[in-house]
Amino acid sequence: MAISVQGVVSRGKGEPVQVTEVLVPEPGPGEALVRIQACGVCHTDLHYKMGGIGDDYPYLLGHEAAGIVEAVGDNVTDVAPGDFVILNWRAVCGQCRACKRGRPWYCFNTHNAKQKMTLADGTPLSPALGIGAFAEKTLVASGQCTKVNPAIAPETAGLIGCGVMAGLGAAINTGGVTRGDSVAVIGCGGVGDAALLGARLAGATTIIAVDIDDKKLEWAREFGATHTINSRTTDMVEGIRELTGGFGADVVVEAIGRPETYKQAFFARDLAGVVVLVGVPTPDMQLELPLLEVFGRGGALKSSWYGDCLPSRDFPMLVDLHLDGRLPLEKFVSETIGIGDVEAAFTKMEHGEVLRSVVVF
Ligand code: APR
Ligand code: ZN
Ligand code: ZN
Repeated sequence: MAISVQGVVSRGKGEPVQVTEVLVPEPGPGEALVRIQACGVCHTDLHYKMGGIGDDYPYLLGHEAAGIVEAVGDNVTDVAPGDFVILNWRAVCGQCRACKRGRPWYCFNTHNAKQKMTLADGTPLSPALGIGAFAEKTLVASGQCTKVNPAIAPETAGLIGCGVMAGLGAAINTGGVTRGDSVAVIGCGGVGDAALLGARLAGATTIIAVDIDDKKLEWAREFGATHTINSRTTDMVEGIRELTGGFGADVVVEAIGRPETYKQAFFARDLAGVVVLVGVPTPDMQLELPLLEVFGRGGALKSSWYGDCLPSRDFPMLVDLHLDGRLPLEKFVSETIGIGDVEAAFTKMEHGEVLRSVVVF
């Protein structure tokens, strides 16, 4: 018997989202039913609503979530009812060529629940990033559930499932930031601020935050920026070079996803440095760079998928660091809201008023 819950559904391109009845099947083999406690409102949810990801409406939005496993299907051994979990959208398969080469964080065959959640009339829903967690309960593949210490607040924990992991991982996993490095982060929304936090955690000494909004730069200091540059008034490439002995930063994280800022990241980097692209571009964007500079500057130009994380390794570690007082992840929670407030949260996000609005159940 399917269970009836309330969920936030996007029915058509650009239309306001609605809270409506969603039917969730009982978990089948390899699946888990999770009672959601908190779910952050992420840019990707807005992209789904605006048609930027696909045309598979209706979407069940929400994917940055934590909750309690309520039931599991056959053959599930990794989690059990009662476990407190953070949901991940890259459940590794263990079988593909990336997994077999010992690099499961690149898994090319990640999986989701096989059964579909539906509207009351039986219309199948497309869950955002294979999760769909703006709902009282959701159905996922059991591998999408990562068990962590339940002492963390759910509204903080959920953010580890997407934005925090993406930014923090961009600095630590993809960029390989280490003790004594200089790091610049371009774009200080939730993702960029998590990259700043990652840089500080990894022991970077010069941590430069770049944004066009002074309020964002003020917040960036709380996440570990030692210097800030408002790129509306100061040339960021010049500014970053000035703060790094004239050379450029060892690692530059681009957390916006635009060709202009990527180009600036490229030139703001020291010789043999690393550029990490974690901001997500749109299909129309093109990049032009002098090829001789690409060669002559050496180093690496990388992109970061989900912070190149391995949820089973990274989520519990970040939770433990937070509980130990070494990772102030609660600062990302600008407000907690109800399930009916997602549309208003999108507006606040577009106006840059919040780092994260988090729906609590
Ligand atoms: N130069 C500097 N900063 C800029 C510029 C620019 N040209 N344009 C925008 N910004 C700043 C904004 O002021 C904002 O603070 O970049 C920040 C972007 O933050 P958010 O819009 O809050 O986005 P965030 O949630 O952090 O995600 C960043 O990562 O996962 C992806 O899809 C996501 O592409 C997005 C990116
Ligand atoms: Zn795999
Ligand atoms: Zn997200």
